[in-house]
Amino acid sequence: MSQLAKRTIMTPGPVEAEPRVLRAMSAPILGQFDPAFTEMMNETMDMLRDLFQTKNQWAFPIDGTSRSGLEAVLTSLIEPGDRVFVPIYGRFGHLLVEICERLDASVHTMECEWGTVFDEDDVIEEIRKVKPKIVACVHGETSTGCVMPLQNIGKTCREEDCLFVVDAVATIGGVEFKVDDWFIDAAIGGTQKCLSVPSGMAPITYNSRAEAIISKRKKVERGIATDQDQTTPFSGSVIRSNYFDLSQLQDYWSPRRLNHHTEATSMIYGLHEGLRILLDEGLENRFERHIFHEKALMAGIKAMGLDLFVEHEYKLPVVTCIAVPNGVDADAVRSFMLTHFGVEIASSFGPLHGKIWRIGSMGYSCRKENVLFALSALEAALLYKEVPVHSGKAVQAALAYYESAVENVHSYKMRRG
Ligand SMILES: Cc1ncc(COP(=O)(O)O)c(C=O)c1O
Repeated sequence: MSQLAKRTIMTPGPVEAEPRVLRAMSAPILGQFDPAFTEMMNETMDMLRDLFQTKNQWAFPIDGTSRSGLEAVLTSLIEPGDRVFVPIYGRFGHLLVEICERLDASVHTMECEWGTVFDEDDVIEEIRKVKPKIVACVHGETSTGCVMPLQNIGKTCREEDCLFVVDAVATIGGVEFKVDDWFIDAAIGGTQKCLSVPSGMAPITYNSRAEAIISKRKKVERGIATDQDQTTPFSGSVIRSNYFDLSQLQDYWSPRRLNHHTEATSMIYGLHEGLRILLDEGLENRFERHIFHEKALMAGIKAMGLDLFVEHEYKLPVVTCIAVPNGVDADAVRSFMLTHFGVEIASSFGPLHGKIWRIGSMGYSCRKENVLFALSALEAALLYKEVPVHSGKAVQAALAYYESAVENVHSYKMRRG
């Protein structure tokens, strides 16, 4: 096999995996009911509760990429005809709609221009008008680099007796996200972004309000059902997917250890290690680290003379979008960076394809050397393509930011003693 290229990955996912995670994933296989493994499952659940900032009993990963977590939650909650409300402000809001429509939900949407977010009050007003069973919303839109304020929406959902489901795939472990304080009933995270674990698992959590719906729809597979399962009254419509049936999956993630699918044990090793690293760093420190490097990146981009696509207060700290200057072939610049520097940045989707570049600064990829390297590669690519930028300024601006930030932290610590 040819040697795989080594890259500096500065996209909004996947990002570079933590080296310790990769090592953990190469440990020998354990059976999915081996006590050594089930102990690791319990520890993973505990750490996921800390990650999501919740006391929920249910916090475990779904096997599959992040959208498997979205599908598991929505498939297990939505019955045909249920009214679901989705505020859309980018590609991943549309993905929520897509999934809900396939489940025969009656989907109500509102949309705003890509690059902006909704005023929370407008969303709240719409919830009161539409009276959905579920409100599903994206917290951090990687397609546009925006983060939606959610703090007050969950409270309204409780008052209106509907469930609040949030896609936190891009933000979990990188940006403040509080399941219990924000009254979120179910949340879905991603591994391949701020957790710096490879793609292939989706951590989720849900509370007893969500569980009540799921339990009503519970049906254990015939070949493994006990007499008691068969006599349990079944009062809802059956969950349409076997693989994503949370009523059965939660029985695997509980002392019952129901034999559902064959667990992807190596992925759990990776997630377990990634969570340990994250909690050792501390959530608050981690959120601050992401903002710290975001500022250096933005300073460099602006010093080059480029415009940020999003610079308002709802800019997502872990994704920085740059407006592609008129007449520049955006994909050719990205390809130049990859070929000559091994640096990968991303394009965007739909109306923004070719219009913006997206630079992710997430998890293990969010560090000084990566920021400096990405800025140098971008500047070199633009100069090579004869795009007028302020030559030699970007890296210097980022370095100046790093120097002054270090001094500020130092003098702050001195003042506090
Ligand atoms: C906000 C958001 N939601 C959902 C997804 C889907 O994740 P996956 O590609 O892992 O299925 C992504 C992927 O980039 C995302 O950024």
